[in-house]
Formats: sequence, structure tokens, C-alpha cells
Amino acid sequence: MLIFNNKALLRAALSQYEKKGQSIGLVPTMGALHQGHLSLMQQSVNENTITVVSIFVNPTQFNNQEDLDKYPRTLETDVEKIKTVSDAIIVFAPSVDEMYEGNTSSHPFDFDGLEHQMEGAFRPGHFDGVGTIVKKLFDIVQPTNAYFGEKDFQQLQIIRKLVEKNNMGIHIVGCPISREQNGLAMSSRNGRLSATEKEEAAFIYQTLQHTKQRFASQTISEIKEYVQEAFNAHPEFKTEYFEIAQEDTLEPAVIKDNKKYRAFIAVFLGNVRLIDNISLN
Ligand code: PAJ
Repeated sequence: MLIFNNKALLRAALSQYEKKGQSIGLVPTMGALHQGHLSLMQQSVNENTITVVSIFVNPTQFNNQEDLDKYPRTLETDVEKIKTVSDAIIVFAPSVDEMYEGNTSSHPFDFDGLEHQMEGAFRPGHFDGVGTIVKKLFDIVQPTNAYFGEKDFQQLQIIRKLVEKNNMGIHIVGCPISREQNGLAMSSRNGRLSATEKEEAAFIYQTLQHTKQRFASQTISEIKEYVQEAFNAHPEFKTEYFEIAQEDTLEPAVIKDNKKYRAFIAVFLGNVRLIDNISLN
């Protein structure tokens, strides 16, 4: 398996595929890989001649230094996991300097308001950091298709907007959420939960499923009240937001119409922040 740290060398290797008219898939990650990441890679391998998996803990998208410092860095085991998926994968694991060239700051983006909702409201500057690094990766890899998980649905919609606004001509593929057996959405942060907390965390997805059941018959405010009460009865969680929003604009729903809606949640369990979402109709 080829591993590049240098963007010019990666670009040169990829141009060999382009010359033959072959497709390039890109799966951006921050490493600490789990089954969710591997499912994105598998989909890209199925749909492209060559897949690039980037592993880069992006400093500009973290809201605090402690979260950045604590983020797991496990390149060796990540590479072993990638090898189990396919040989048709190139790993790109650059340093901060290679990506930012001494200027570790993000560029301000206008994502037509998508960036102000939910995660954007609670993590100021986060999506500027994501936009900055993903744009850099797109410019280096110039992928045919790029794969993002619905686990971070707001991020997925923001990347679609990034491509649309910059006329980048990259096909963005949204991939389903991989879950633990108890329903907990897989996340690199789950490793920071105790065994008991991992069991307790199943409550998040259970509540989202109940939300979906209620969506057919209840009003938005009735559902919100139900979720509020459900979490009030589970004081181990601290809810940051629960929102029902339209998929395209991510604007909070007030009344139901024939648009596509999703429920989104961010909660703290202990000091670990967990997010999840579910399609409602
Ligand atoms: P990271 O959290 O490592 O996630 C990399 C990709 O895996 C994202 O597209 C994310 O949505 C997807 N993913 C994570 N958990 C998943 C799950 N349980 N099921 C399906 N997909 C899942 O998201 C980032 O990194 C960064 O913001 C990045 C896009 C790499 C930019 O730095």
C-alpha cells in the first residue's frame, strides 16, 4: 500500500490514473478509523479505479486546544485496517506544515446559512476549518467522487454547497451511518466512553427512533416536548440541541410540509460530546 506525506508526489501519482481516464475516489478522515470510515472506503473502492484515504487531524476545525490534543492519533493501526478493505487505496497522511505551509488559519466561508445552524451555532469557526481543509484536499486530489458520512449530515450538506459554489465538478456521495449493535453511532470519540456509558448512549438512537415514529402523527412542538422530557428523565445526558430541520436548508422546521426532514441531536455524556441524526420522512 502506498502512503504519501507529500502533496506534490501524491498529485504526480494520481495524474497517472487521470491520463488513462480512470476515476479517483476520495475519503477524507481524521484517522482513529472505525467501521464507519471503512464502509465509506469500501463504497469508494466499489465505484472508483483508485481511492485516496486522507488521514489528517485538522487543527483549524477544533474549538479548543484540549480536544485537539486529546484526539487519537493511530496511523499504524489505521493503515492495517485500510489494508483489510482493498489494495486499490492510497493513503495520504500529511503533516500540518505540508497542508498549511506555516499559516494554520482557516478561510471564512459563506455556505448560504448552512453554517449558522446546529453545529455551527455551538462550534464557532468549525465549518470554516472543515471547508478550508476539504477544499485543500479537493485541490490536491481532484477526485471524481468524494465520500462523506451522514453521521455528520450538516458537514455533508456544507461540502455539497462548497462544491456547488466553487463549480468544482466533484460528485459528493453521502453514506449511511454505521452503528454499534446497540444503535450508538460509531465515532472516534466513543473510545472515551466507559463501558457503562456506551450502554447508556444507546438511549440517543432509541429516542431518535421514537421521534421518527411520532413524526407521522405529532406536531413539531409535541415531538420536541417529548424529547426534552425523555432526556430530563436521564440526567446523565446534557443536551446541547435537539432540532428537526429541513434536509436542504437545515432550517428548523416549524410546521410539517412535503419537504424532507431530519432530526438532529448533540448531547454530552460525561465530558464526551456525541452527535446523531435520523431521517424522518
Ligand atoms: P472524521 O470524523 O474522521 O470522519 C471522516 C468521515 O467519516 C466523515 O465523512 C464522517 O461523516 C464519516 N463517519 C464518521 N463516523 C461515521 C459513522 N458512524 N458512519 C458513517 N460515516 C461516518 O469528518 C471528519 O473526519 C472531518 O471533518 C473531515 C471531513 C475529515 C475534515 O477534516
